[in-house]
Amino acid sequence: MDECTSVVNTGLRGVEVATTKICRVDGKAGKLVYRGYTIEDLAENATFEETAFLLLHERLPLKDEIASFSENLKLKREIPDSLITFLKAVPHDTEPMNLLQAACPILALNDPDCGKEGIEPTLKSAENLISGLAVVTALFERIRSGKEIILPENSLGHAENFLYMMTGKPPDSETAGILDTCLVLHAEHSFNASTFTARQVASTGAEIYAAVSAAVGSLSGPLHGGANVRVMEMLKEIGTQERIDEYIKKTLDAGERIMGLGHAVYKTLDPRARILAPMSRRMGELAEDLSWYELSEQLADKAQQAFKAKKGTDIYPNVDFYSASLLNAMNIPLDLFTPVFAISRIAGWTAHVIEEQYATAADKPALYRPGASYIGDYCGPDECTFIDINSR
Ligand code: COA
Repeated sequence: MDECTSVVNTGLRGVEVATTKICRVDGKAGKLVYRGYTIEDLAENATFEETAFLLLHERLPLKDEIASFSENLKLKREIPDSLITFLKAVPHDTEPMNLLQAACPILALNDPDCGKEGIEPTLKSAENLISGLAVVTALFERIRSGKEIILPENSLGHAENFLYMMTGKPPDSETAGILDTCLVLHAEHSFNASTFTARQVASTGAEIYAAVSAAVGSLSGPLHGGANVRVMEMLKEIGTQERIDEYIKKTLDAGERIMGLGHAVYKTLDPRARILAPMSRRMGELAEDLSWYELSEQLADKAQQAFKAKKGTDIYPNVDFYSASLLNAMNIPLDLFTPVFAISRIAGWTAHVIEEQYATAADKPALYRPGASYIGDYCGPDECTFIDINSR
């Protein structure tokens, strides 16, 4: 590469790579805004469907618009036979995020709009992906547990239908509402790792399913979407409040991380964690088991104090910290925690793919192609001479 500004090995922290109208994250103030609306306002007032419309269409829907958007999502719950055959054929112990990633190209093959140029067909594919990821996750859970497949119920909203297809019972309205708010909270977060992955793929002109499939892979990592699973595993390893101090000491002394704490952008309390904490408590009450919520609260307090004492700086719970106890109380299997994150974040991913590809000329980002600082030093910078295999 020619001249580069070097930010090597910093994970691009603090580097702005594109303009976006979708989301603003203020890490110092602990503020998250989707297209001008604060996360607190949306969590209180919007459904997941309205939030997805807002992200994709740049404004809140009118009554007839949300009715037609929700109807489209319902029509797209119908899963092609080839996908059901695939879900039945894969081993039951397939890691669900791998399954979800593999389902993306199959959804693409069955989408007549896939590969068509233009914002309208891409929006239709986005709707197909929003419905598709949720339905695939629910169907796979039924199939791998040897249970009968439950067909979508079109009188139910997005979150409600997901729980219904997974469990075979329509959820009570409070549980459905809590999941719906969870989906709103996880729907978008600017240029996080998976969204940047989606945008990076989209910047090559690749179609939306390719971008989303890559984003699902990125989300599966333990430092990103996989963190909610690791939080629950950690809570189970700790087990009781009496063991919290010992766990924190052991973890910090070993230079390891307490999952669900810290954030690459927020240097104060993640606003989503603030909203999720009472929701986790309420879900624990509904499940008549507050033990995981209470353990989480105690752990957060004590870990924050221990971190401050050791490092001299503050650390705060992130979005994954309370999601873990909440999803657990909702009876979502542990290995579906990250897929549930994906079925929400799909709204943000697809909005970003559309912005990446269809922003006006003045705002259109370029193909991402960073440089790298070559540190190979084998026989001098570029000066090895090829040695025949018999002589090496
Ligand atoms: N537990 C213990 N120590 C932590 C920590 C955690 N959860 N998060 C950060 N730290 C420490 C690091 O060890 C590092 O210490 P050092 O300076 O002595 O090496 C310091 O804080 C800064 O860490 P760094 O990785 O540079 O911060 P970051 O802001 O880039 O990291 C995360 C952000 C999310 C990767 C990090 O906080 C983390 O790994 N958290 C746990 C995983 C998690 O919950 N991920 C979900 C994110 S939404």
